[in-house]
Amino acid sequence: MANVKIFDTTLRDGEQSPGVTLIPEEKLAIAKQLAKMKVDVLEAGFPISSEGDFKAVKMVSENVKGIEVAGLARCRKGDIDRAWEALKDAENPRIHVFIASSPIHMEYKLKMTEEEVIKSAVEGVKYAAQYTDNIEFSAEDASRSNVDFLARLFEAAIDAGAKVINIPDTVGYSVPSEFGALVKGVKEKTPNIDQVEISVHCHNDLGLAVANSLAAIENGATQVEVSVNGIGERAGNAALEEIVMALYTRHDYYGLDVTQDTTQIARLSKLVANSTGISIQANKAIVGANAFAHEAGIHQDGVIKERTTYEIMDAQTIGLDHNKLVLGKHSGRHALKDFLDKYDYELDESSFESFFKRFKDLADKKKNVSNADIIALLDNELYDY
Ligand code: KIV
Ligand code: ZN
Repeated sequence: MANVKIFDTTLRDGEQSPGVTLIPEEKLAIAKQLAKMKVDVLEAGFPISSEGDFKAVKMVSENVKGIEVAGLARCRKGDIDRAWEALKDAENPRIHVFIASSPIHMEYKLKMTEEEVIKSAVEGVKYAAQYTDNIEFSAEDASRSNVDFLARLFEAAIDAGAKVINIPDTVGYSVPSEFGALVKGVKEKTPNIDQVEISVHCHNDLGLAVANSLAAIENGATQVEVSVNGIGERAGNAALEEIVMALYTRHDYYGLDVTQDTTQIARLSKLVANSTGISIQANKAIVGANAFAHEAGIHQDGVIKERTTYEIMDAQTIGLDHNKLVLGKHSGRHALKDFLDKYDYELDESSFESFFKRFKDLADKKKNVSNADIIALLDNELYDY
C-alpha cells in the first residue's frame, strides 16, 4: 500500500521560530529521536547560515543513520558547496535548493524576471547534481505564484536533475480547497512530474497548515514537510504529530500506510518542547496535556464503559500510558467510583452520597482538584474529621 513520505524540518524551519537556538548536541538528540520514530527525511539545517548550523548538519550526517538527511541551500554555488560539505558523510544525503517564484518575491526581494529565476534554478540544481542525485527543489511562495509559471519552473528543475519538487505555502496564505487545486494544477501542467516526488510545505499563519497539507495529499502530494509541535517561522509549520495521527486514525479515509512509529510521538514532543523552550498549549491536538483528558461527567462515564465512546485515538498509540480522567466540577458519580476502586476505598451508599456532595462543593470552588484533595475528602468522610 502507498504511503506519504514524512519530511521533518524541526531542526531547520522549526529552529527558525523566534527566540529559538538549538546547540548542535541538542539537534543531534532530536535527530536521533526522529530517526527512532522513522520519519523518512530530516532537514538538519541551513549550513551556509551559521557555523553552528554547519556543525549541527555535519554532526547529524555523521551520527544518524537509517534516514535521509537534508541540508538547505539557495541556488548559489557557495550555499550548495557548504551544504554538501556538511552532508557528505550522511548515509543518504539530500541537497534542498530553493528560489522564490511569486511576483511579489521576484520583484521586491530577488529583483529578477521569471526567465532569470528559471535560469538560476536550473544552474542551482545542475550544480548540486555534481554531488548527489538526491536533489529537492522548492519554489518559495509557490501558493502566491502563477501556476503556469510554476509548472515551467518545475519542469526545468526536473530536466536539470531534481528528484523532488516542493510546493510551499510560505506565508500560510492558502486555504485547503485552493491549495489542493494548486497541487492538482501543478500535476496536470508539468509534463514530467510523474518522475518525481511532489512535496508540500505549509505554514500556519491562518491555522490551516495541517488542513492544507491533507488537501494536498488528496490531490497527489507524495511528501509532506512538517515540524514537531508545529514550531517554525511565525505561527509555525504543519505539525508532525497531527499529520501522522490524522493519516493513522483516518486510514479508512486516506487509505495510506503510516510507516512511522507513532509510539515515539509523546517523547519526541517533550524533547522538542524542553530543548526549544516553546511550551505546548494544553489543548494542542495529540500532544497537549488535555488531549487525552476527560472532565465532563457524561464523557467520563462513557469512557469508563467503553473508551471509544469519546476517544478516537488510544493514548498508548502515541506513547502515553493511558488517558486521564480529570476530576472536576463536571465529573459524575461513575468517575468518582472509578477513583475509589483504583485507590481501594470502600464506601457504603450513604457515605458515598455525602462524599460526592463534598466533592462537588470543593470542585465548584477549586478548578483543579488533585488526587490528594480527594483523598483528604475521603478521609474526612471515613473518619469524620
Ligand atoms: O517556507 C518556505 O518556503 C521554506 C522553503 C525554504 C522550503 O521554508
Ligand atoms: Zn518554511
